[in-house]
Amino acid sequence: MNTVAIYPGSFDPLTNGHVDIIRRGAHLFDRIVIAVLINLEKAPLFTVPERVAIAREVFAGAPNVEVDTFDGLLVDYARRRRAGVIVKGLRAVSDFEFEMQMALMNRKLNPDVETVFMMPTEPYTYVSSRLVKEVVALGGSVHGLVPDSVEKRLREKKLARETLRA
Ligand code: PNS
Repeated sequence: MNTVAIYPGSFDPLTNGHVDIIRRGAHLFDRIVIAVLINLEKAPLFTVPERVAIAREVFAGAPNVEVDTFDGLLVDYARRRRAGVIVKGLRAVSDFEFEMQMALMNRKLNPDVETVFMMPTEPYTYVSSRLVKEVVALGGSVHGLVPDSVEKRLREKKLARETLRA
């Protein structure tokens, strides 16, 4: 059996919590596809091509990790990719309620796709893309919480924004 799993998200930006879940997924499944959501409503820090480039860079040495984009319903994308699994990370009980709603809605929409939850290693249980962006914007360090390439790009974005404002 060739099990393809989809790991969907905004990844704005990719954190070490995401990386941890993807590595775990890559051990469990034949292929894991990092599916970057194309969301025209949000005002992201990184463009979709930037987020795709970051993920490709981080997983360059992982042959069964693929990076792709999607829009529309996740279960439709999963069907197109012939994926039987959606991988989600659960950091804390606070994630559970919404994740359960999404998992059950996705099951209703497509009973052939199973959602599998995985927990990241403890040091990353408090890490989120939103907090990472906030800390960097306010001058704090996120060293060790995001891949080095993300840390560098965050610094560049901050500098670019400060230069624009000056
Ligand atoms: O990283 P995020 O922003 O928390 O990821 C959210 C994501 C992409 C997993 C979620 O918004 C999603 O699945 N969007 C696709 C639209 C969809 O299928 N909606 C119905 C699912 S219940």
